Amino acid sequence: MTQLEIWERWDASLYEQQENYRHDIDLLLSLLGDKPQRVLDVACGTGRMALPLGRAGHIVHGFDVSMPMLARMQAHLNTGEFPSVTVEHRDGLAGAWPDGFDAVLLGANLLCNLITGETDYMAAQRLFLRRAHEALRPGGHLFLDFDCVDWPTSAWEDAQPWVCFDVTDERGTYGRYIVGQYEYDAGTRVCRGERIWELQPKDGGDFTVRKMSVKHFPSWADVQTWLTDVGFAVEKLYVDCEPAEQGREGCRITLWARKAVMES
Ligand SMILES: C[S@@+](CC[C@H](N)C(=O)[O-])C[C@H]1O[C@@H](n2cnc3c(N)ncnc32)[C@H](O)[C@@H]1O
Repeated sequence: MTQLEIWERWDASLYEQQENYRHDIDLLLSLLGDKPQRVLDVACGTGRMALPLGRAGHIVHGFDVSMPMLARMQAHLNTGEFPSVTVEHRDGLAGAWPDGFDAVLLGANLLCNLITGETDYMAAQRLFLRRAHEALRPGGHLFLDFDCVDWPTSAWEDAQPWVCFDVTDERGTYGRYIVGQYEYDAGTRVCRGERIWELQPKDGGDFTVRKMSVKHFPSWADVQTWLTDVGFAVEKLYVDCEPAEQGREGCRITLWARKAVMES
Protein backbone atom coordinates (compact mmCIF):
# COMPACT_ATOMS: atom_id res chain seq x y z
CA MET A 1 0.00 0.00 0.00
CA THR A 2 1.32 3.48 -0.83
CA GLN A 3 1.74 6.17 1.84
CA LEU A 4 -1.17 8.03 0.21
CA GLU A 5 -3.45 5.00 0.60
CA ILE A 6 -2.35 4.44 4.22
CA TRP A 7 -3.04 8.10 5.03
CA GLU A 8 -6.44 8.25 3.26
CA ARG A 9 -7.64 5.04 4.89
CA TRP A 10 -6.46 6.16 8.32
CA ASP A 11 -8.27 9.48 7.82
CA ALA A 12 -11.55 7.78 6.86
CA SER A 13 -11.24 5.44 9.86
CA LEU A 14 -10.57 8.41 12.14
CA TYR A 15 -13.72 10.08 10.85
CA GLU A 16 -15.90 7.07 11.56
CA GLN A 17 -14.35 6.46 14.98
CA GLN A 18 -14.51 10.05 16.22
CA GLU A 19 -17.29 11.88 14.35
CA ASN A 20 -20.25 9.79 15.39
CA TYR A 21 -22.59 12.34 17.02
CA ARG A 22 -26.27 12.12 16.15
CA HIS A 23 -28.21 15.08 17.57
CA ASP A 24 -28.47 16.52 14.03
CA ILE A 25 -29.81 13.20 12.76
CA ASP A 26 -32.58 13.15 15.39
CA LEU A 27 -33.56 16.67 14.37
CA LEU A 28 -33.50 15.74 10.69
CA LEU A 29 -35.64 12.64 11.27
CA SER A 30 -38.27 14.78 13.01
CA LEU A 31 -38.26 17.25 10.08
CA LEU A 32 -38.62 14.50 7.47
CA GLY A 33 -41.59 12.93 9.27
CA ASP A 34 -42.84 9.37 9.08
CA LYS A 35 -43.61 9.12 5.34
CA PRO A 36 -40.63 7.82 3.30
CA GLN A 37 -38.84 10.74 1.65
CA ARG A 38 -36.33 10.77 -1.24
CA VAL A 39 -33.20 12.31 0.25
CA LEU A 40 -29.92 13.39 -1.38
CA ASP A 41 -27.06 13.26 1.15
CA VAL A 42 -24.41 15.55 -0.33
CA ALA A 43 -20.85 14.64 0.72
CA CYS A 44 -22.21 11.65 2.62
CA GLY A 45 -18.80 10.52 3.89
CA THR A 46 -19.03 7.12 5.57
CA GLY A 47 -22.83 7.36 5.82
CA ARG A 48 -23.18 8.81 9.32
CA MET A 49 -26.46 10.48 8.29
CA ALA A 50 -27.54 8.37 5.29
CA LEU A 51 -27.53 5.03 7.11
CA PRO A 52 -29.87 5.96 10.01
CA LEU A 53 -32.19 7.70 7.54
CA GLY A 54 -32.27 4.52 5.45
CA ARG A 55 -32.94 2.49 8.57
CA ALA A 56 -35.90 4.79 9.30
CA GLY A 57 -37.39 3.96 5.88
CA HIS A 58 -36.23 6.91 3.77
CA ILE A 59 -34.85 6.44 0.26
CA VAL A 60 -31.39 7.95 0.37
CA HIS A 61 -28.82 8.59 -2.32
CA GLY A 62 -25.40 9.78 -1.20
CA PHE A 63 -22.36 11.02 -3.03
CA ASP A 64 -18.86 11.97 -1.97
CA VAL A 65 -15.58 12.87 -3.63
CA SER A 66 -13.49 10.71 -1.27
CA MET A 67 -13.05 7.08 -2.34
CA PRO A 68 -11.81 5.89 1.10
CA MET A 69 -14.89 7.43 2.80
CA LEU A 70 -17.15 5.80 0.20
CA ALA A 71 -15.40 2.45 0.61
CA ARG A 72 -16.40 2.47 4.28
CA MET A 73 -19.96 3.41 3.41
CA GLN A 74 -20.11 0.70 0.73
CA ALA A 75 -19.01 -1.85 3.33
CA HIS A 76 -22.09 -0.92 5.39
CA LEU A 77 -24.33 -1.22 2.32
CA ASN A 78 -22.81 -4.63 1.51
CA THR A 79 -24.28 -6.01 4.75
CA GLY A 80 -27.69 -5.81 3.04
CA GLU A 81 -29.15 -3.90 6.01
CA PHE A 82 -29.79 -0.71 4.01
CA PRO A 83 -31.70 -1.66 0.82
CA SER A 84 -33.06 1.89 0.35
CA VAL A 85 -29.60 3.54 0.40
CA THR A 86 -27.40 4.01 -2.68
CA VAL A 87 -24.12 5.82 -3.13
CA GLU A 88 -21.90 7.13 -5.91
CA HIS A 89 -18.53 8.79 -6.37
CA ARG A 90 -18.97 12.40 -7.41
CA ASP A 91 -17.30 15.77 -6.95
CA GLY A 92 -20.11 18.16 -6.09
CA LEU A 93 -18.30 20.92 -7.96
CA ALA A 94 -18.29 18.98 -11.23
CA GLY A 95 -21.62 19.33 -13.02
CA ALA A 96 -25.28 18.99 -12.07
CA TRP A 97 -26.44 16.64 -9.32
CA PRO A 98 -29.18 14.03 -9.61
CA ASP A 99 -32.59 15.69 -9.08
CA GLY A 100 -36.22 15.21 -8.03
CA PHE A 101 -35.50 14.87 -4.28
CA ASP A 102 -37.83 15.74 -1.40
CA ALA A 103 -34.88 16.82 0.73
CA VAL A 104 -31.23 17.68 0.12
CA LEU A 105 -28.72 17.55 2.99
CA LEU A 106 -25.76 19.90 3.30
CA GLY A 107 -25.02 18.63 6.79
CA ALA A 108 -22.06 18.23 9.15
CA ASN A 109 -20.68 21.73 8.57
CA LEU A 110 -20.08 20.96 4.89
CA LEU A 111 -19.96 24.63 3.88
CA CYS A 112 -16.78 25.00 5.96
CA ASN A 113 -15.33 21.62 4.98
CA LEU A 114 -15.58 21.71 1.20
CA ILE A 115 -12.76 20.34 -0.91
CA THR A 116 -12.69 23.08 -3.50
CA GLY A 117 -9.63 22.38 -5.66
CA GLU A 118 -8.95 25.46 -7.75
CA THR A 119 -12.45 26.90 -7.23
CA ASP A 120 -12.75 30.06 -5.12
CA TYR A 121 -14.04 28.98 -1.68
CA MET A 122 -16.99 31.33 -1.46
CA ALA A 123 -17.99 30.59 -5.07
CA ALA A 124 -17.97 26.87 -4.21
CA GLN A 125 -20.22 27.45 -1.18
CA ARG A 126 -22.71 29.40 -3.29
CA LEU A 127 -22.58 26.78 -6.03
CA PHE A 128 -23.47 24.02 -3.53
CA LEU A 129 -26.57 25.99 -2.48
CA ARG A 130 -27.56 26.47 -6.12
CA ARG A 131 -27.01 22.80 -6.95
CA ALA A 132 -29.04 21.81 -3.86
CA HIS A 133 -31.90 23.98 -5.11
CA GLU A 134 -31.74 22.38 -8.59
CA ALA A 135 -31.72 18.88 -7.06
CA LEU A 136 -35.00 19.44 -5.17
CA ARG A 137 -38.51 18.98 -6.48
CA PRO A 138 -40.62 22.16 -6.13
CA GLY A 139 -41.71 22.36 -2.49
CA GLY A 140 -38.77 20.19 -1.38
CA HIS A 141 -36.51 21.14 1.53
CA LEU A 142 -32.86 21.92 2.14
CA PHE A 143 -31.32 20.81 5.46
CA LEU A 144 -28.32 23.05 6.06
CA ASP A 145 -26.17 22.71 9.16
CA PHE A 146 -23.05 24.84 9.63
CA ASP A 147 -20.80 26.59 12.13
CA CYS A 148 -21.51 30.26 12.28
CA VAL A 149 -19.40 32.32 14.65
CA ASP A 150 -18.33 35.91 14.27
CA TRP A 151 -14.79 35.21 15.44
CA PRO A 152 -12.77 38.32 16.21
CA THR A 153 -9.23 38.10 14.80
CA SER A 154 -7.91 38.21 18.39
CA ALA A 155 -9.46 34.80 19.08
CA TRP A 156 -6.95 33.30 16.63
CA GLU A 157 -3.87 35.37 17.44
CA ASP A 158 -2.28 33.09 20.02
CA ALA A 159 -3.40 29.87 18.41
CA GLN A 160 -0.76 27.17 18.83
CA PRO A 161 -0.56 23.87 16.95
CA TRP A 162 -2.74 21.28 18.66
CA VAL A 163 -3.46 17.59 18.29
CA CYS A 164 -7.02 17.40 17.09
CA PHE A 165 -7.25 13.60 16.94
CA ASP A 166 -5.05 10.61 17.68
CA VAL A 167 -6.35 7.15 16.84
CA THR A 168 -5.31 3.73 15.59
CA ASP A 169 -7.10 2.33 12.55
CA GLU A 170 -8.19 -1.25 11.84
CA ARG A 171 -4.84 -2.02 10.14
CA GLY A 172 -2.94 -0.94 13.24
CA THR A 173 -1.71 2.38 11.86
CA TYR A 174 -1.43 4.90 14.70
CA GLY A 175 -1.64 8.56 13.76
CA ARG A 176 -1.99 12.10 15.01
CA TYR A 177 -3.89 14.79 13.15
CA ILE A 178 -2.46 18.17 14.09
CA VAL A 179 -3.87 21.59 13.32
CA GLY A 180 -0.74 23.63 12.70
CA GLN A 181 -0.07 27.36 12.67
CA TYR A 182 -2.86 29.34 11.06
CA GLU A 183 -3.99 32.88 10.34
CA TYR A 184 -7.51 34.20 10.30
CA ASP A 185 -8.61 37.38 8.55
CA ALA A 186 -11.80 38.64 10.18
CA GLY A 187 -12.42 40.91 7.17
CA THR A 188 -12.55 38.13 4.59
CA ARG A 189 -13.44 35.42 7.15
CA VAL A 190 -10.77 33.22 5.55
CA CYS A 191 -8.57 30.95 7.66
CA ARG A 192 -5.28 29.66 6.22
CA GLY A 193 -3.13 27.16 8.01
CA GLU A 194 -1.22 23.95 7.96
CA ARG A 195 -2.64 20.50 8.66
CA ILE A 196 -0.18 17.79 9.68
CA TRP A 197 -0.71 14.03 9.83
CA GLU A 198 1.97 12.01 11.64
CA LEU A 199 1.47 8.35 10.80
CA GLN A 200 3.05 5.19 12.23
CA PRO A 201 2.07 2.09 10.22
CA LYS A 202 2.10 -1.13 12.25
CA ASP A 203 4.98 -2.57 10.25
CA GLY A 204 7.14 0.55 10.36
CA GLY A 205 7.88 3.24 7.79
CA ASP A 206 6.61 6.25 9.78
CA PHE A 207 5.82 9.30 7.66
CA THR A 208 4.33 12.78 7.88
CA VAL A 209 1.88 14.49 5.52
CA ARG A 210 1.61 18.30 5.46
CA LYS A 211 -1.09 20.20 3.61
CA MET A 212 -2.23 23.80 3.50
CA SER A 213 -5.85 24.33 4.42
CA VAL A 214 -7.88 27.34 3.30
CA LYS A 215 -11.42 27.73 4.60
CA HIS A 216 -14.01 30.44 4.36
CA PHE A 217 -16.35 30.78 7.35
CA PRO A 218 -19.57 32.27 5.99
CA SER A 219 -21.50 34.68 8.19
CA TRP A 220 -25.20 34.23 8.87
CA ALA A 221 -25.80 37.34 6.74
CA ASP A 222 -23.83 35.77 3.82
CA VAL A 223 -25.84 32.57 4.00
CA GLN A 224 -29.19 34.36 4.25
CA THR A 225 -28.35 36.37 1.11
CA TRP A 226 -27.20 33.29 -0.80
CA LEU A 227 -30.35 31.34 0.18
CA THR A 228 -32.64 34.16 -0.93
CA ASP A 229 -30.72 34.65 -4.20
CA VAL A 230 -31.08 30.97 -5.04
CA GLY A 231 -34.81 30.86 -4.18
CA PHE A 232 -35.07 29.26 -0.72
CA ALA A 233 -37.40 30.40 2.07
CA VAL A 234 -36.21 29.49 5.58
CA GLU A 235 -39.08 27.77 7.42
CA LYS A 236 -37.32 26.55 10.56
CA LEU A 237 -34.20 27.74 12.28
CA TYR A 238 -32.22 26.12 15.10
CA VAL A 239 -29.23 27.18 17.17
CA ASP A 240 -27.22 24.24 18.49
CA CYS A 241 -30.10 22.02 17.38
CA GLU A 242 -32.64 23.85 19.61
CA PRO A 243 -35.34 26.11 18.12
CA ALA A 244 -33.83 29.58 17.65
CA GLU A 245 -35.26 32.17 19.97
CA GLN A 246 -34.61 35.88 19.87
CA GLY A 247 -31.06 36.51 21.07
CA ARG A 248 -30.19 32.86 21.62
CA GLU A 249 -26.42 32.40 21.38
CA GLY A 250 -24.58 29.43 19.95
CA CYS A 251 -22.16 28.53 17.22
CA ARG A 252 -24.13 26.06 15.13
CA ILE A 253 -26.97 27.09 12.82
CA THR A 254 -29.27 24.46 11.36
CA LEU A 255 -32.08 25.37 9.02
CA TRP A 256 -34.87 23.83 7.00
CA ALA A 257 -35.59 25.88 3.89
CA ARG A 258 -38.21 25.33 1.22
CA LYS A 259 -37.83 25.56 -2.54
CA ALA A 260 -40.74 27.60 -3.88
CA VAL A 261 -43.45 25.82 -5.88
CA MET A 262 -43.56 27.40 -9.37
CA GLU A 263 -46.62 29.45 -10.30
CA SER A 264 -48.25 27.98 -13.42
C1 LIG B 1 -17.04 16.51 7.54
S1 LIG B 1 -17.25 15.17 6.38
C2 LIG B 1 -19.01 14.89 6.57
C3 LIG B 1 -19.46 13.54 6.09
C4 LIG B 1 -20.95 13.21 6.33
N1 LIG B 1 -21.84 14.14 5.65
C5 LIG B 1 -21.29 13.18 7.80
O1 LIG B 1 -22.27 13.79 8.19
O2 LIG B 1 -20.59 12.50 8.54
C6 LIG B 1 -17.15 16.09 4.89
C7 LIG B 1 -17.25 15.23 3.64
O3 LIG B 1 -17.38 16.11 2.53
C8 LIG B 1 -16.77 15.51 1.42
N2 LIG B 1 -16.56 16.55 0.41
C9 LIG B 1 -15.87 17.70 0.56
N3 LIG B 1 -15.86 18.39 -0.59
C10 LIG B 1 -16.58 17.68 -1.49
C11 LIG B 1 -16.91 17.87 -2.84
N4 LIG B 1 -16.45 18.93 -3.53
N5 LIG B 1 -17.70 16.95 -3.46
C12 LIG B 1 -18.12 15.85 -2.79
N6 LIG B 1 -17.81 15.60 -1.51
C13 LIG B 1 -17.05 16.49 -0.85
C14 LIG B 1 -15.49 14.91 2.03
O4 LIG B 1 -14.91 13.93 1.21
C15 LIG B 1 -16.03 14.37 3.36
O5 LIG B 1 -16.42 13.03 3.24
